[in-house]
Amino acid sequence: MTATVFSIANQKGGSGKTTLAMNLAAGLSGRGRTLVVDADPQGSAVQWSGMAPERRPFPVPVIALGDNLASEIQRFRRDYDFIVVDCPPSLETERTNKAMLASDRVLVPVLPSPVDLWASMRLARAIEQIRPIRPGLEACLVVNQLEPRSALSRAMQEALAEFEIPALASPIRRRAVYRNVAIEGRSVFCLGRQGDAAKAEIAAIIEEITGP
Ligand SMILES: Nc1ncnc2c1ncn2[C@@H]1O[C@H](COP(=O)(O)OP(=O)(O)OP(=O)(O)O)[C@@H](O)[C@H]1O
Ligand SMILES: [Mg+2]
Repeated sequence: MTATVFSIANQKGGSGKTTLAMNLAAGLSGRGRTLVVDADPQGSAVQWSGMAPERRPFPVPVIALGDNLASEIQRFRRDYDFIVVDCPPSLETERTNKAMLASDRVLVPVLPSPVDLWASMRLARAIEQIRPIRPGLEACLVVNQLEPRSALSRAMQEALAEFEIPALASPIRRRAVYRNVAIEGRSVFCLGRQGDAAKAEIAAIIEEITGP
């Protein structure tokens, strides 16, 4: 058995990497053994899971890895079905590159404005540079914090159409539940009905990225 490895990367800060990583991992844990690798020196994913009360731990182990993360991820591939790597908001350190090199797919959360998308151009370049040594590496954008009930602006649709990395069909909307579960060390999958819409959008992303 060998895990599928997803890196959640964008050198732009605050685009939703940790939020996507943790909720995605919680959703994936319903399908197979899942591990979160916190590759960010800020340690947000570790902090997130640390907020969970002892009687109700985060459903997925979260481990911090540093410069040796590529070899460690290879080692963990044997023990898990899915590994989700939360990358730092930087391309200056080698960590994002190393994580992407060890991955099957890179998910790039972007806020729904062309300016934010253009800021991800450097990451797109980095992915292009990696492709010759990591053939088959897939990359896709995930639009995050889309306004509730509104569609993508025309300007954003045009910017996405021109961008070299395709976007998943399923966006993530701006919802208070995403902020709340982080503080409580949980995921949207722990919520009752008030989490249904968020659960559905994370489940739709899982369908897209694990589908045939
Ligand atoms: N869909 C969403 N709806 C509401 N709030 C969100 C959503 N996605 C992210 N947030 C909030 O936006 C902030 C930034 O998100 P997050 O920490 O996941 O980004 P990040 O890319 O990991 O940041 P960094 O680059 O610092 O690692 C957090 O306060 C988070 O709770
Ligand atoms: Mg983060």
